[in-house]
Amino acid sequence: MNRDISFRHYRQADLPVCATIAGEAFPLVVGRFVGEDMGKVMKGQIDGSRAMSNYQDLALADGKAVGLIFGRLKREPVLISMCRTLKRLILIMGRFLLGKYGNRRKLIRLVKPGLQALRVLRRNRPASEAEIVLFAVAQEYRGTGIGRALMDRFVSQARCHKATSISVPTDETASFWFYEKYGFTRWSEFHDPMESYCAGRPIKGFIYRLVLGSASGQE
Ligand SMILES: CC(C)(COP(=O)(O)OP(=O)(O)OC[C@H]1O[C@@H](n2cnc3c(N)ncnc32)[C@H](O)[C@@H]1OP(=O)(O)O)[C@@H](O)C(=O)NCCC(=O)NCCS
Repeated sequence: MNRDISFRHYRQADLPVCATIAGEAFPLVVGRFVGEDMGKVMKGQIDGSRAMSNYQDLALADGKAVGLIFGRLKREPVLISMCRTLKRLILIMGRFLLGKYGNRRKLIRLVKPGLQALRVLRRNRPASEAEIVLFAVAQEYRGTGIGRALMDRFVSQARCHKATSISVPTDETASFWFYEKYGFTRWSEFHDPMESYCAGRPIKGFIYRLVLGSASGQE
C-alpha cells in the first residue's frame, strides 16, 4: 500500500461520503432510483447495514473516508445486541416515514424481494461467529491494498473475539473474487431475489466463508 492510510470507527457525520462510496460499489440498487433519490437510498443502505452491525471501520486517505467495512461479531450478550439493533431500526423507520431515504413507494417495492433475500440467506448461510455486512472501497482508491487492510483488521478483531469463521454474502455482480483471493471459500450458491429484482434478470448469489487460521493476509 503506497498511500498514507489511517483507520477509525464510523461516525454519523460520515454518512454522506459512505453513501457515495456504496452508491458506486453497488450500482444495481442505485439504478432503480433517479436524481436526488439515488443518494438518499444509499444513506438508507448505510443506516440499515449499521443497524445490523457492531463493527464499523473506516479507511481514510487524503483527508477523507475512502473505504468501509461493517460487520457483526459475537462479542456481547444477544439481548444487548438485539436491543441496539431494535433502537436503530426504530430510528430508520422514523427517517423512512419522513422521506429521508427517498421515494417511499419505490422503497416499499423493495420490501418483498428484501424479505425473500433474508430467508434465502438464512437457509444458505453457515453457522459463524462473525459476518461481514457491508464492504466497499471508493472506485479511485481500489487496487491499492485498502480492501485487504480493512479485511485484515476485521479478521484480527474476529480472532480477538474467538470467532472460528467469518461468513459474507455476495453475488456475481460484486467483487466476489476479492474473497477468493483472500482465502475465503464458496459455501453456497443460490438465486438472489433482491439483486435479481434490482437487475431485472436472474442473479446468482454466493456465500463465502473464511475458516480462521487460513487467512492469507494474517499468516
Ligand atoms: C472488494 C473491494 C472492497 C476490494 O477493495 P480493494 O481496495 O480494491 O482491494 P485491494 O486493493 O486490497 O486488493 C485485494 C486483492 O485483489 C486484487 N484485485 C484488485 N482488483 C482486482 C480485479 N479487478 N480483479 C481481480 N483481482 C483484483 C489485488 O491485486 C489484491 O490481491 P493481492 O493482495 O494478492 O495483490 C473493492 O473492489 C470494492 O469496493 N468492490 C465493490 C464493492 C464490492 O463488491 N464489495 C464486496 C462484495 S459485497
